[in-house]
Amino acid sequence: MLKFDFNTFMHIDGENDYNYKIHDIREKLEKKESMLDWYDVDTTISKSEFDKIVKVSNYVRKNADVFLVIGIGGSYLGSKAIIDMFKPYFKKDDVEIIFAGFSLSSTYLKELLDYIKDKEVIVNVISKSGTTLEPNITFNAVYGIMKKKYNKTQLQKRIIITTDKKKGKLRELINKEKFISFKVPDNIGGRFSVFTAVGLLPIAVSNINIMRLLEGVRRGKKNIDKCFIYAIIRDILYKKGRKIESFTVYEPKLYYFTEWIKQLFGETQGKNNLGLFPVSVVNSRDLHSLGQYYQQGDPIIFETVINVVNNKDIKVTNKSLNKINNIATIKVAEAHAPHTPSNIICMDHLNEENVGELMYFFMVSASIGAYLLGVDPFNQPGVEDYKKLLMEGIKKI
Ligand code: PA5
Repeated sequence: MLKFDFNTFMHIDGENDYNYKIHDIREKLEKKESMLDWYDVDTTISKSEFDKIVKVSNYVRKNADVFLVIGIGGSYLGSKAIIDMFKPYFKKDDVEIIFAGFSLSSTYLKELLDYIKDKEVIVNVISKSGTTLEPNITFNAVYGIMKKKYNKTQLQKRIIITTDKKKGKLRELINKEKFISFKVPDNIGGRFSVFTAVGLLPIAVSNINIMRLLEGVRRGKKNIDKCFIYAIIRDILYKKGRKIESFTVYEPKLYYFTEWIKQLFGETQGKNNLGLFPVSVVNSRDLHSLGQYYQQGDPIIFETVINVVNNKDIKVTNKSLNKINNIATIKVAEAHAPHTPSNIICMDHLNEENVGELMYFFMVSASIGAYLLGVDPFNQPGVEDYKKLLMEGIKKI
């Protein structure tokens, strides 16, 4: 179960001024006008694709020491976020899941290749366009090593490609080499693709129940009104000069979840010289670094706190540590409130249904927020600028 508190530590008025905009935005969403196939579970993923993900994930679990997921941005952040949320802190899993292709670090790539060379590896390269430099470089290096180690038939069971159904270099490779493949649906962009094969295959390999995750997404439809309230609060605060939204968590396992949220909001809304700047903090750690700023710095921030209420518990000095952390969540919001207001969103437990529901909540809210700003939620034209200059630079070496 999710609980939304937009009142206790947040005092806003002016919501009614938005009434005339809500109808049109709701219609856009319901009609799934463009790039909105993720809005309904049934158009996000088909039964046959789901069954194939389950089958392939079982195969990977039986046959790999290492499952290497290569992708950047929306092609890896969603699965990394969910896997980290459910992964024990210290126990090693049967299949080690490693993410790569999200940097140009030569040290990372070199150490990765050394690490996997004697292991049974299955690779999943994920790129909707098939043209992104960082995953391409990593995949080519890994493919080179795998070609030396495995024959053609073995490779057909060890290389899995998730890409556009028709276009791009990766699709050409699938057609040529007959690798296992999954499609990124046309009408779903990278940062909205966590509940397609892009996210679900790595998540299933890590033994998380993807059926229950999708059940949570389906359940998320009941929160659409809450998405509107949250999006409107954000918009009002932004227009009043609160330019930064801090996603604040008290459970370090949610760290990558906040990275996923940052990408979702940053790429969806940061365009046309507009948009809140998303940041994240993990408390208590960051109470002793940025906490001072939230308490007394320039009042340009508001917080959206994401809390898990019931966790594995342990008694410390005869008191429940879980309760102490929950008290910290509320008391810090109370302390920050006169200077930095907070929304509070709680999951009663960290389980698949709640996580599916919560991610869907943020996906819908981010889209509504972009419509309120008058920008296209589903493009990211600015990202192209660095890619172009980088390619020009690389040609010169
Ligand atoms: O949200 C998006 O669309 C982007 O962040 C993409 O996921 C990212 O740029 C990677 O693109 P691709 O999957 O084409 O390699």
